[in-house]
Amino acid sequence: MKNIVVLVSGGGTNLQALIDAQESGSIQGGRITCVISSKPGVYALERAKNHDIKTRVIARKEFADSVEYSKAILEALNEEKADLVVYAGFMTILDELVVKAYPNKMMNVHPALIPSFCGKGYYGLRVHEEALKKGVKLTGATVHFVTEVCDGGPIILQKAVEVQSGDTPEVLQKRVMEQAEWKILPQAVSLFCEDRLTVKDDIVYIS
Ligand code: GAR
Repeated sequence: MKNIVVLVSGGGTNLQALIDAQESGSIQGGRITCVISSKPGVYALERAKNHDIKTRVIARKEFADSVEYSKAILEALNEEKADLVVYAGFMTILDELVVKAYPNKMMNVHPALIPSFCGKGYYGLRVHEEALKKGVKLTGATVHFVTEVCDGGPIILQKAVEVQSGDTPEVLQKRVMEQAEWKILPQAVSLFCEDRLTVKDDIVYIS
């Protein structure tokens, strides 16, 4: 059984999708053993507690810089004996020292079709604002392995979602979450836990 550690910073609807998938038995070979938040008091922590999942808060603002913060996160991941680390709305960029310790063992859900609308500064609602500004007719979500390049790691799963006329960033965000993120994140976690993902030359192969 793989230990899945989920990193969060906010409302935690993607965490909820993982918890629901776990409880319905669709994640074989792994279980969420700990949820770590970069902020105290966020609703994602309540979601974990409601399902008897261990929580830890490692507050970004208590650390002087990204390296010190990353060392604290790495120590926690090691203590939790993480086999898979999932960024589910985790809004802090970690130093490469964490990624190097967990190569192809950390995944992130991003609310766009990478390589569009991604990289530093593209997070949360901002991503949907930019998609609407550009007038794209299709957007979506991507689950990818985390590397030292922000949103640049090997792509595991993607799902497209239509933009509709009159969409606001909030409406589009909700559609992308419902139709894409909450589906492909649990799927990708499940594939990982079943040892069905292989990475070769930065390409993910699913068996
Ligand atoms: C989600 O849309 C997630 O894809 C996005 O933030 C939201 C968090 O919602 N993540 C990023 O933008 C990371 N670059 P949640 O806390 O309800 O899961």
